[in-house]
Amino acid sequence: MTKQSLAGKSVLTTFIHTPKLGELECAKDALITLDDQGVIQSVVHLSDEGYPQNLAAARAAESLVEFGQDQYLFPGFVDLHIHAPQWPQLGSALDVPLEVWLQDHTFPLEAKYENAAFAREVYADLVTSLLANGTTTAVYFATIHAEATRILADTCSAKGQRSFVGKVVMDNVAECPEYYRDKDTETALTETAEFIEYVQTNHSNEDLVKPIITPRFIPSCTDDALRGLGDLVEKTGCHVQTHCSESDWQHGYVIERTEKSDANALRDFGLMTRHTVLAHGNFLSDDDMAVVKDAGAGVAHCPLSNYFFSNAVFPLRRALEKGVRVGLGTDISGGPSASMLESCRHVVNSSRLLEEGVRPDLDRSERRTEDSRADFREALYIATAGGAEVLDLKVGKFEVGYKFDAILIDPFAKNAPIYKDFGLFDLEGIAEKIIMLATRANIAKTYVGGKNVSSAQT
Ligand code: GUN
Ligand code: FE
Repeated sequence: MTKQSLAGKSVLTTFIHTPKLGELECAKDALITLDDQGVIQSVVHLSDEGYPQNLAAARAAESLVEFGQDQYLFPGFVDLHIHAPQWPQLGSALDVPLEVWLQDHTFPLEAKYENAAFAREVYADLVTSLLANGTTTAVYFATIHAEATRILADTCSAKGQRSFVGKVVMDNVAECPEYYRDKDTETALTETAEFIEYVQTNHSNEDLVKPIITPRFIPSCTDDALRGLGDLVEKTGCHVQTHCSESDWQHGYVIERTEKSDANALRDFGLMTRHTVLAHGNFLSDDDMAVVKDAGAGVAHCPLSNYFFSNAVFPLRRALEKGVRVGLGTDISGGPSASMLESCRHVVNSSRLLEEGVRPDLDRSERRTEDSRADFREALYIATAGGAEVLDLKVGKFEVGYKFDAILIDPFAKNAPIYKDFGLFDLEGIAEKIIMLATRANIAKTYVGGKNVSSAQT
């Protein structure tokens, strides 16, 4: 694959982004200039003084790249929650509850990554597919296996995807089968520390791949492992990811075992920090949300997976109104889609179900959860700038100092046009149509740090 780069160049493009929650900016024919590292150096708008001179200068220097008049640049997607080894199972095994799905389908599949060749084959296909779907930053759970986890980190690096990769910790004999369990607590902790060192040694120069400390969830870990990982967080300052208050069963299990809610237990183990990603969070109480907010941690909202495994819809509006950081996750393969665009749609859909309610036998006043709806602007925000904010990464919007991680959308892609232009829509209307209708086929190009890492087949 050629990785043509826009570093040091200026791009003439119409761009659409959500620099803040609730704010959609559509900029026609803007001029975005990148430095040599693929970081945005300037953004000059059509209405800015000096625009004609800037454009003429870029043209004269032969450093201007012009995107099509019918193409739209969006920030690349930040997928906060992906189980890389579950890729082969996408779209299947969706008819059983979480605890059965894990034991009967997911753990047997994840155990196969003991085989490095299998890991290499699956992970190459996964990362390629996600880049084609516009996911420029991916936060991955790998498996318990040290070698396969290194392979995932190396694959992201080779294919140019910004990523966080975690070796999964599962040492609790009571909840993890013998065939898929860390040898013991000490091994789980040592292998996590070794993986962090591996990434920091092998991938630190490229500003792309980072390690993330990954207790799968409290049920799969012993208290000693959770405490040990908390110590490692303090020592290394690494990011953390885990599942939190996902389903009735999981939420109840943690309260029974620890006599605390998930959020409080994670905080007390030292796992709730400014760099923690909590997957799901459906059953976070108001007090739990205060714990999450005080720590500066974030939630990965996974609307598609929640339909199948969570027994509830995440109260997105409530979390945002309380000041909790929220990003978006596909939760491959709990969520049966690799597309963050599709997940955006389900942010909107699920919020409407929550607001309106789903039981026609109840009176309207009992059926509804007022003020729950989210629209395409909020969906785009959490899929881009919001997720980046959870990770504390400078991506997700077109502003000076942010890395140029972007996707170029072609609504009229050959054989996949998403609408016919009858001249009825302004840029905001087009943005909505793109978020609600676009597919992988409409993602003409994907850029990470200014590098072209994927192109649609034409
Ligand atoms: N809880 C623990 N492991 C998993 C997983 O793989 N997927 C989901 N959705 N929830 C989990
Ligand atoms: Fe998950």
